[in-house]
This record gives sequence, structure tokens and C-alpha cells, in this order.
Amino acid sequence: MAPTRRLTGFKPTGHLHLGNLLGALRPLIAAQDHTESIAMIADLHAMTMDHEPGRLRALALEQATVLLAAGVDPARTPIILQSQVAEHTELHYLLECATGFGEASRMIQFKEKSAAGGPIRLSLLTYPVLMAADILLHDIDEVPVGEDQNQHLELTRTIANRFNARYGPTFRVPEGVRPESAARIMDLADPAVKMGKSNAAGAGRIALLDPPEVIRRTVARAVTDELAQVRRHPDQPGVTNLVGILAECTGQQPSDPVSYGALKREVTDAIESVVAPIRARHAELADDPAHVREILAKGAEAVRPRARATVRRTRAALGLLQ
Ligand code: TRP
Repeated sequence: MAPTRRLTGFKPTGHLHLGNLLGALRPLIAAQDHTESIAMIADLHAMTMDHEPGRLRALALEQATVLLAAGVDPARTPIILQSQVAEHTELHYLLECATGFGEASRMIQFKEKSAAGGPIRLSLLTYPVLMAADILLHDIDEVPVGEDQNQHLELTRTIANRFNARYGPTFRVPEGVRPESAARIMDLADPAVKMGKSNAAGAGRIALLDPPEVIRRTVARAVTDELAQVRRHPDQPGVTNLVGILAECTGQQPSDPVSYGALKREVTDAIESVVAPIRARHAELADDPAHVREILAKGAEAVRPRARATVRRTRAALGLLQ
């Protein structure tokens, strides 16, 4: 049986953080032996909201470098920049001709982001169509998605099924898979929200490249409560999050009983032991950006034959002359 094909996407709108490592990167790295995975940096999706060219360029390269530093092996897992495989955008247009305006405008993420005020880019509306193109282009079986991308994955399946029914079998229909990581990593300053790349202040985010001192301070300031009980409990979201991070980073529960101060020291050490090797390897790789760019170029080359075949099939199905 052919190995399962997976696509994991990262949007370069901010620095990769502990939540990305535990929820997406580690599962990607662990799956390298038993899946055919692709790691994609969705730089085109990072342009669907107001963006700064210099920052986009820097973040795309940084994310690629962090993926390598964390252990993504480009010999087994092509690392690609979305914009460097032009077939993504070609398929995007073809799929726009198979997607309803109503479908796109009903997406929760579009509604939320367009309600936030300020000018709205047309690409924000077509965001999920580009995401469908990313997935369908590479004949993907499984897409690890967090809750926020569930609806986009469902739309991808709808588009693929409808296209296949109307124009003949063209696309493999993907499944969404939940990241295997047990804990959802929440923001340390606001444990009601998920740790995110672009949360306003970022006060409760642990970026993978944060220096040890910054990590220590972020954990020390983490929100806890007055209950003085180290346990996972719905009434204690902050403490639950810290205990979860500790478990994910060390595979252990906190030594019991401990004070919140002691818990925070354990958590700091646990995070440091996980990120220190990534930070060190990143520093080496960042010294030679040309090497990282070469890896991206090779990744694009590796996925291109299949991408071209998908585009050719789609064009033919739609009635375009070959
Ligand atoms: N939209 C995804 C996110 O914000 C990133 C992404 C773009 C993606 N294309 C994808 C994820 C294809 C999975 C598959 O996280």
C-alpha cells in the first residue's frame, strides 16, 4: 500500500512558537518514517491581510530555518514555499471557477477577519480556495488541522467531491486529522485563548527562538490562580496549561506536591530543554541562508512533477485546450 500523503502548512505571519512545535512540528517530524509528508510555508496566505514585504520575506526564511532546526528532514519531507510552486496559484484560479461566492463568504474566518474593520483584500475571501488548491495539488490524503482550519478543510472536501462528480474523477479527497498532541497549548498570559503567532501583545507566547531569559520571564509571569493546587482542572486553566506544557515537554507530571513557584521553575527548565537544541541548530543554519534557500528550491523541484500532473488533469477536465 502506498504511504499516506500528508500536508502540514505554516503561515508566516509571526514567529513559530511552542504551540506550533508541540501541535504541528513534532507530529510532522514523528510522521516522517511512515508518511509521505510535505511541509509548506504558506507565504501567499500571509498576504491576505495587510502585510509588510520585508517582514514577510524574513519570516518565510526564518520558518523554513526553524523547521530544519527542529528536525524536519528535507530528504524525506520536502519543505516548500507556496509561492515558489506556481501550480498552487494556477490551480487556485481553476478552483475559483468551481467554488460559490456564497460558500466563500460564509467562512467563519472570513467573517471574523473582515468584520475587524479596515480595508479587506479580495484574497481574504478566496483564502480557502487557495488552501484547497494547496491540498488538492499534491494528492494529499491527510491534513493535520486545528479547529480554526476545520471549516476550510471541509470546504476543500466539498469542492473536490463536487468537481469529481461534475467533471470526472480528478482530485483525491483529503481527510482532516487532529494533531496527535494531547494538550492544547494556551497563551500563558491569557489561558482562555490558544497560543498564537499573532496574538496582540504576545505577552504569553513562547517563541521557539526566544532567549532563555525571555522564556524564564514569560513563564514567571504566567497567569495562575489563588487555589494553590497543582493539578489539571477546568477551574484552573492557567495551572492546567502549565502542567500540560510540562507533560508535553518532559513526558512527566510535576513532582508532587509543589508550589506554583516550583511548578514554574520546572516548566521553565522543561521548555528550555526542548528549545535549546532548536535554538542552537537555528543559529548554525541562519549563518548560511543560501543553503536554506537551496533546500527550498530542491523541495519545489521534488513536488513539481505531481503538481504539474494535477494541473494538467484539472485543465483537461474543465475543457481547456492542452
Ligand atoms: N491556513 C493555514 C493556517 O492558517 C495554513 C495553510 C495554508 C494550510 N495552506 C494550507 C494548512 C494547506 C494545511 C494545508 O494555519
